[in-house]
Amino acid sequence: MQNRPQAKPFLKWAGGKTQLLAELSSRLPDDIKEKRLIESYIEPFLGGGALFFYLRKHYEIRDAYLLDLNRELILTYKVVQEDPDSLISYLNELEEKYRSSDKEGRRKLFYQIRTLYNKQMKEINHNDYSLKWVERAGQLIFLNKTCYNGLFRQNKKGEFNVPHGRYKNPTICDVQNLREVSLALQGVKLIQADFLQAKSFVQRKSFVYFDPPYRPLSATSNFTGYAKEDFDDADQLRLANLFIDLDKAGASLMLSNSDPKNSDETDNFFDELYSGFSIERVLANRNINRDGKGRGKVTELIIRNY
Ligand SMILES: C[S@@+](CC[C@H](N)C(=O)[O-])C[C@H]1O[C@@H](n2cnc3c(N)ncnc32)[C@H](O)[C@@H]1O
Repeated sequence: MQNRPQAKPFLKWAGGKTQLLAELSSRLPDDIKEKRLIESYIEPFLGGGALFFYLRKHYEIRDAYLLDLNRELILTYKVVQEDPDSLISYLNELEEKYRSSDKEGRRKLFYQIRTLYNKQMKEINHNDYSLKWVERAGQLIFLNKTCYNGLFRQNKKGEFNVPHGRYKNPTICDVQNLREVSLALQGVKLIQADFLQAKSFVQRKSFVYFDPPYRPLSATSNFTGYAKEDFDDADQLRLANLFIDLDKAGASLMLSNSDPKNSDETDNFFDELYSGFSIERVLANRNINRDGKGRGKVTELIIRNY
């Protein structure tokens, strides 16, 4: 993995970390910053992969394992990795159709693709790469770029259920970035799995970045609709136990999370879970939707074992 592709996330993903990159990258382990080299990089909650793509641009990464529980997400990454040409030609066609349609035509095309996508869910073998994957990945990217708020959200049945969005002329097929992403993913291990499975790839020299689904800021906000399974406090506890295990194994660990103190000063959930590690609070822009105000400044947690 010698070349440095100029890739950026190709999907808009809930909890994407583009806005936090400066805070995260200034907190990398010293030896990585000095040598500009990451021998072993592991990211168990990949999502849009903002930090991975940033690091891939600025550092040499020898070995990388990227995991996520969402099988549609991993399928899409694998298609970008394996066959960007077919994906690009399928997406270009969709983009042309979309852009040349009027308002009503666009709406119709969106729901047509959404219905197809949900119908084919049961016919797809997510464990066995096939040509069918190319269309499915293309459809996910299309829906991500044209849906309301540009996010990917599934209901309990695993169906994509976001309505049509209002973007005027969305770029559906960013050819150059998809090619850079494909380059950035060469040699990378993409794994659909629960985060605990990351354990088997971690060694003493690994740098692991955890970005789990947010613990909702308040009872009314809900940020954890990524996969059909919710990420609850029991999962947060499983994660903290993994963090403690990997710390003992000697790996360097960084974790980001929402700060429950934004809505309740007395909530010490993460302070208690990660007592004994470095816990910092940094400012971030985030959709909070509290008091009906929408966007605002909140603090996020960055927790490290170094
Ligand atoms: C906050 S997002 C990661 C965002 C990412 N850092 C970015 O920049 O876009 C959390 C991700 O964790 C995944 N996830 C949820 N539960 C999981 C689990 N048990 N194991 C692994 N991944 C999980 C979700 O599918 C989602 O993609």
